[in-house]
Amino acid sequence: MSSQPATPSRRLTAPDITARKGLDPIVSLTSYHAHTAALADPHCDFLLVGDSLGMVMHGYETTVPVPLELMIMHGRAVVRGAKRALVVVDMPFGSYEESPSVAFRNAARVLKETDCGAVKLEGGRHMAETIRYLVDRGIPVMAHIGLTPQSINTLGGFKVQGRSDAQFAALEADARAVSDAGAFAVVLEAIPAELAGTITAAIPIPTIGIGASAACDGQILVMEDMLGLSPRVPKFVKKFGEIGNLISSAIEEYATEVKSRSFPAEAHTYARQLPPKK
Ligand code: KIV
Repeated sequence: MSSQPATPSRRLTAPDITARKGLDPIVSLTSYHAHTAALADPHCDFLLVGDSLGMVMHGYETTVPVPLELMIMHGRAVVRGAKRALVVVDMPFGSYEESPSVAFRNAARVLKETDCGAVKLEGGRHMAETIRYLVDRGIPVMAHIGLTPQSINTLGGFKVQGRSDAQFAALEADARAVSDAGAFAVVLEAIPAELAGTITAAIPIPTIGIGASAACDGQILVMEDMLGLSPRVPKFVKKFGEIGNLISSAIEEYATEVKSRSFPAEAHTYARQLPPKK
């Protein structure tokens, strides 16, 4: 078992991710900009331009208001920044639920305008027909089940899913349905470890966990959450850095130096160019 991709010199594709089922864990993060994409690229198999960018970067309370144009703009930036990782772009709320053909039109726009390699959409059995329609027409789809943030208004909050017997069975059926429909991988968000293990064993495509335990075939986190930049994070997030504190103290020091006129120092200024001596 190797942790290196088979062909590191080319960009990974959706089939490459599917082929990792049962091998070493798939590593992924969200990314919304070119420079964080470039930093994550050597370490991640895929980068997700998640619609969480609406909350993380644009100050929305939920992902519901995020427009397609915003996803396309951030998707382009991430594709420019990452050279090796597959880039997956989220389809935002309202851009795919109406019908398979509406989903195709919008997903095709995402692929053509960002040059990403796949899209992600939320939903299980009720989205299976749409997933099949997109895949049959050349659009790789990552599914997302469990806690699906775009359904926050029907779920009633960001709550763990799949705890009751009925929900456990329903989510297992959702996972089978999206896999049968041709999804190349499925995100499992905020579900019990036992359910994640059951689903991972039951389907032939990789499961990507976020709050779904190490039983999954891979993991994803929102980059700003694991870096310590987000003011509030869910229980399932481990902070691998405290970048927020670093930023605050750097800005405080900058403000102090500006006020005391110790910045800019001579090293940060330009000298006049004198005419050559005659
Ligand atoms: O939008 C997002 O960031 C996501 C991940 C949490 C999987 O969908």
